[in-house]
Amino acid sequence: MRIDVLSIFPSYFDGLTLSLLGKAQSAGILDLRVRDLREWTSDRHRTVDDTPYGGGAGMVMKPEPWGLALDELASSSAEATRTAAAQTRPTIIFPSPAGEVFTQATARDLSTRDHLIFGCGRYEGIDERVFEYAASLGEVRLVSLGDYVLNGGEVATMAMIEAIGRLIPGVVGNPESLVEESHEDGLLEYPSYTKPSVWRDRSVPEVLLSGNHAVIASWRREQQLERTRRRRPDLLPEDDA
Ligand code: ADE
Repeated sequence: MRIDVLSIFPSYFDGLTLSLLGKAQSAGILDLRVRDLREWTSDRHRTVDDTPYGGGAGMVMKPEPWGLALDELASSSAEATRTAAAQTRPTIIFPSPAGEVFTQATARDLSTRDHLIFGCGRYEGIDERVFEYAASLGEVRLVSLGDYVLNGGEVATMAMIEAIGRLIPGVVGNPESLVEESHEDGLLEYPSYTKPSVWRDRSVPEVLLSGNHAVIASWRREQQLERTRRRRPDLLPEDDA
């Protein structure tokens, strides 16, 4: 998969060279390119923002650098995917607190795409015409990490790339570990324990030491339901809540 990121703070993304996603890049499974939006400015100050029409607080990101950057990145989609049969239009994601909420289902959906472009806004946002224009180049998604406000799209983009990236085949060494995680089956994950069996007077639940796999599986399922009921009742269908 190819992922392009447009940001005025590219060094935010240095952390994505670490750990599993770093390995995926070295292995050629993930082609991640972070670009400074200011590359597509032409004035001396490399200006990316301006005052809002209609007045109001803060600054708005100018459309011109976005248009040029998106043109360049979207036109390389065919090259990114290499095969003619593959999708040649990118999926263009703008992190925004005004977008659809990002969930594990969103991550799964996006992990099947050949080419993602993340556009990280700052200030009071991006000129609205950029979203309309981007829709002529690919599928546009405005996506929120949750109902709170960050200073810009960078942290949201990092979270999304990590959630999406680990679903790309070959990124997580043991694919079985993906199956039993929170949210994969709509429930929170069961509790985990390791040695020692007693630590600071706290014992590991007896059932886990029984060696009876059927009983362990049913205990884990019950724990998942109980935790989900207690912490996230909104995830449960009405009859289980
Ligand atoms: N940018 C600012 N706040 C955000 C949020 N909650 N999700 C995604 N992008 C954002």
